[in-house]
Amino acid sequence: MSSSLASVSVSVLLVTYICATPISNKPRYTDNYHHSHIFRGASRPAHSPDQNNAAYWRHQAQSTLREKLAKPLLTGRARNVIMFLGDGLSIPTLAAARTYLGQSQGQTGEETVLSFEAFPHTGLSKTYCVDSQVADSACSATAYLSGIKANIGTIGVTGNVKLNDCPAMLEAANRVTSILKWSQDAGKSTGVVTTTRITHASPAGAYSQTANRNWENDAEVKNSGQDPNKCDDIAKQLITSLPGRNIKVILGGGRKEFLPTNATDEDGKRGARTDGLDLIAEWKSDKRRRRASFQYVWNREQLLRVNPERKDFVLGLFNSDHLEYHLLANTTKEPTLEELTRFSIRILRKEPRGFFLFVEGGRIDHGHHDTKAHLALDETVEFAKAIKAATDMTREEETLIVVTADHAHTLSISGYPARGNDIFGISGKSDVDKLPYSTISYANGPGYKQPLPNGSRYNISQDNLADVNYKFPATLPLSSETHGGDDVAVFARGPWSHLYAGTFEQNFIPHVMAYASCVGNGRTVCDVYRPY
Ligand SMILES: *[C@@H]1O[C@H](CO)[C@@H](O)[C@H](O)[C@H]1NC(C)=O
Ligand SMILES: *[C@@H]1O[C@H](CO)[C@@H](O)[C@H](O)[C@H]1NC(C)=O
Ligand SMILES: *[C@@H]1O[C@H](CO)[C@@H](O)[C@H](O)[C@H]1NC(C)=O
Ligand SMILES: *[C@@H]1O[C@H](CO)[C@@H](O)[C@H](O)[C@H]1NC(C)=O
Ligand SMILES: [Zn+2]
Repeated sequence: MSSSLASVSVSVLLVTYICATPISNKPRYTDNYHHSHIFRGASRPAHSPDQNNAAYWRHQAQSTLREKLAKPLLTGRARNVIMFLGDGLSIPTLAAARTYLGQSQGQTGEETVLSFEAFPHTGLSKTYCVDSQVADSACSATAYLSGIKANIGTIGVTGNVKLNDCPAMLEAANRVTSILKWSQDAGKSTGVVTTTRITHASPAGAYSQTANRNWENDAEVKNSGQDPNKCDDIAKQLITSLPGRNIKVILGGGRKEFLPTNATDEDGKRGARTDGLDLIAEWKSDKRRRRASFQYVWNREQLLRVNPERKDFVLGLFNSDHLEYHLLANTTKEPTLEELTRFSIRILRKEPRGFFLFVEGGRIDHGHHDTKAHLALDETVEFAKAIKAATDMTREEETLIVVTADHAHTLSISGYPARGNDIFGISGKSDVDKLPYSTISYANGPGYKQPLPNGSRYNISQDNLADVNYKFPATLPLSSETHGGDDVAVFARGPWSHLYAGTFEQNFIPHVMAYASCVGNGRTVCDVYRPY
């Protein structure tokens, strides 16, 4: 028997053993390190009895093996590249989100596959920045879009630019461009889509250079003691500079960054600009001057009415601020990330030279910062749906799809809950204080529970863990849960996706996309191989 079959048998034995035990919270096996008890929550779906048999697992593994053996490596040129960025999509978030998805469909959950987890190639990305052990979304965007590492809080500039250093940000030698710009230079159409403000750090990485990610409008530049006439804010760069002016499809939130304080948007919300500029009007007049067909939309209904075959440029701003969380949104007003992705691909694929599209699931991060795991996991499922749409709409032979995260978070899945136990439920009871603990917890954040006056740990049994706004427990109190410094995963499918193997620096990511799609200044597949 091969060693892999041997290890399968061991896990089968373990699974069989666990499932055969009666419901109880008594310890099942213990040593100095594993004070374990398989904890069973109230009602949970059962796994199929087949799974108690070795044949089930051997068949499952052999079928994966067959698929992998049959899969050719794709070494042609990638006409299109789509990059999906799950903001804060840490590795534990993947297992939690797939379990949530499966359980929402009545399954045990753990075996569920998020759409991109079926991609053929996976690697690990190291996310630290030039001056920071743990990344923020700005320095990491510079890495995965422009191919260099930079300082925390800065976008599209080198490590020579410190946070807030407006003069340094203006020096040509300190400014870098992104794969979106390289793709435009190669004649491709480009798009940027997000569930956050379109001027937020991750999407800004595609089109801006700034010494401070918070400079989303001119007032923010002034607040940092800098001159907005010298250092343009991010919204202004998007509308008036390159590559922003040439982006064919721009969809997200953040209307306030584009409107003056004395103007109100379609929802009656005030603009944030103090320079009097109406950048939405500027965007329209730029496209009009260029005799392009264009459309500005601000709600879902308008977006779905646009015929993408007939428009060159579409700007969609669906909220004054970030888009609402999918779980809390008014779905008639705000499109889903899947709808935004489908629309963008239809706009972009008209270009025969292909396209580059950046799509961010931006609010996974925000759910985590609030330790609201329901929201973070649901946003992850929405992100997976958008990726499914992209895989359905493109051919693997000609479109490279890369899915990754900018940085991790501190969510952990812990304890020994039974198979199929509610991922938002109780994992077990501490043998020290006899109080329950949840499967999901965070290392820090607003979910911290004060001990009782007598020093006893907070008893979470009185909480409603099923509430979508529940703040899961954190070990130490912080008003906002922090990012994590652990590696994040990269999932890839399409030409040269096999280059995303092993553990690599985050700034390697766009170099592969550029290699595969023959853009940028580095080596490309077209240097040695010309399929067209
Ligand atoms: C806002 O103020 C500017 C001058 O600062 C003026 O030109 C513009 O007409 C005003 N807009 C509205 C809607 O009041
Ligand atoms: C959702 O938005 C639509 C359009 O603005 C509005 O008519 C409707 O009342 C809203 N629904 C809820 C539940 O707020
Ligand atoms: C602390 O107080 C709570 C609430 O009054 C009580 O339930 C718990 O048993 C107490 N714990 C200890 C260790 O005395
Ligand atoms: C924790 O709270 C639950 C529900 O209020 C209660 O049944 C249980 O006895 C409490 N546990 C302890 C150790 O106080
Ligand atoms: Zn964050």
